[in-house]
Amino acid sequence: MTIRIGPLETRNRVFLAPMSGVTDEALRSVAHDCGAGLVVSEMVASEELVRQRQDMCRRARGSDKVKPFVIQLAGREAKWMAEGARVAQDLGADVIDINMGCPSRQVTGGLSGSALMRDLDHATSLVSATVSAARVPVTLKMRLGWDDTNLNAPTLARRAEDAGVQLVTVHGRTRCQFYTGKADWRAIKAVKSAITIPLIANGDCATPADAKAMLDASGADGVMIGRGAYGRPWWPGVIAQALGENGFREPTVLAELRIVLEHQARTIELYSDALGNKTFRKHAGWYAQRLFERGYISETALQAFRGKALSNSNNSQVASEIQALYDQAGSLHRDAAA
Ligand SMILES: Cc1cc2nc3c(=O)[nH]c(=O)nc-3n(C[C@H](O)[C@H](O)[C@H](O)COP(=O)(O)O)c2cc1C
Repeated sequence: MTIRIGPLETRNRVFLAPMSGVTDEALRSVAHDCGAGLVVSEMVASEELVRQRQDMCRRARGSDKVKPFVIQLAGREAKWMAEGARVAQDLGADVIDINMGCPSRQVTGGLSGSALMRDLDHATSLVSATVSAARVPVTLKMRLGWDDTNLNAPTLARRAEDAGVQLVTVHGRTRCQFYTGKADWRAIKAVKSAITIPLIANGDCATPADAKAMLDASGADGVMIGRGAYGRPWWPGVIAQALGENGFREPTVLAELRIVLEHQARTIELYSDALGNKTFRKHAGWYAQRLFERGYISETALQAFRGKALSNSNNSQVASEIQALYDQAGSLHRDAAA
């Protein structure tokens, strides 16, 4: 199944969540190549984007190969949201997503992110300013509300739809929960009843079975995967395939190695040799952890890889360490299968 965002149509209904410090252009392009229904940029601070701060410009980078290109904007002033939307469009964005879900004190302290859910009039004014400035569809990502006594996502979603938003994503936690407890998929259903535009459910969805249960419980049109895609950017595509959609077949160990090395190369290209090396370390650690969790490498091999590869600033040597790790994984996996 596909999802319509205004005139656009997604490949399937399993999306990769925006994650600052994780879903940069390199990771998004890999996830896209591996079947994700939609990928969204890391949160981009609208004022800083307009002022062309280098890191924000990099966050807002996209390519013609990854379509639709979605830039997520955050901000607390209508003026900057509107200006940011114009800049995002000039950068080629096909969709602008507004962040009203980030719980970070740094962001909510500046009264943006999920803090906007405490003042729906102000939140709606930001949405209206963004929609008025944009020629492309605008979407909105939020939480269930600020806290358990203010579960106002249905009202905000309704008001956003009235203001012209074309799709809403809801993370089934309140701001005050941060990432604790379990996402409440059932609570997302109240949003579905409040709107006619597509709804995407998010929070703690990490397997095909989770995705089915989440779709049932929330009544949502699609799901969004965040941390469940750490160390497996093909996972949204694989879940889509498991739901019977146009997705991606789970890669073999050898195919996985090719994807990982491609991800490393794209990361270095995006940042530079040194910053690319530093940025890729967490991904390399996650890839290795996933191999270990599936029983493809031993704990000793995992620890040895961490010790050698994750402090090595020579990217070719890191690539060789990755190759060696996957060689071990391949032989252990073959032995187990034999
Ligand atoms: C490291 C990290 C960074 C995140 N950055 C963003 C962000 O930039 N924009 C956003 O809307 N949500 C952000 N989120 C929230 C995720 O998009 C998602 O809503 C949340 O992780 C719940 O989904 P999950 O349980 O599938 O991870 C971030 C989450 C994590 C873990």
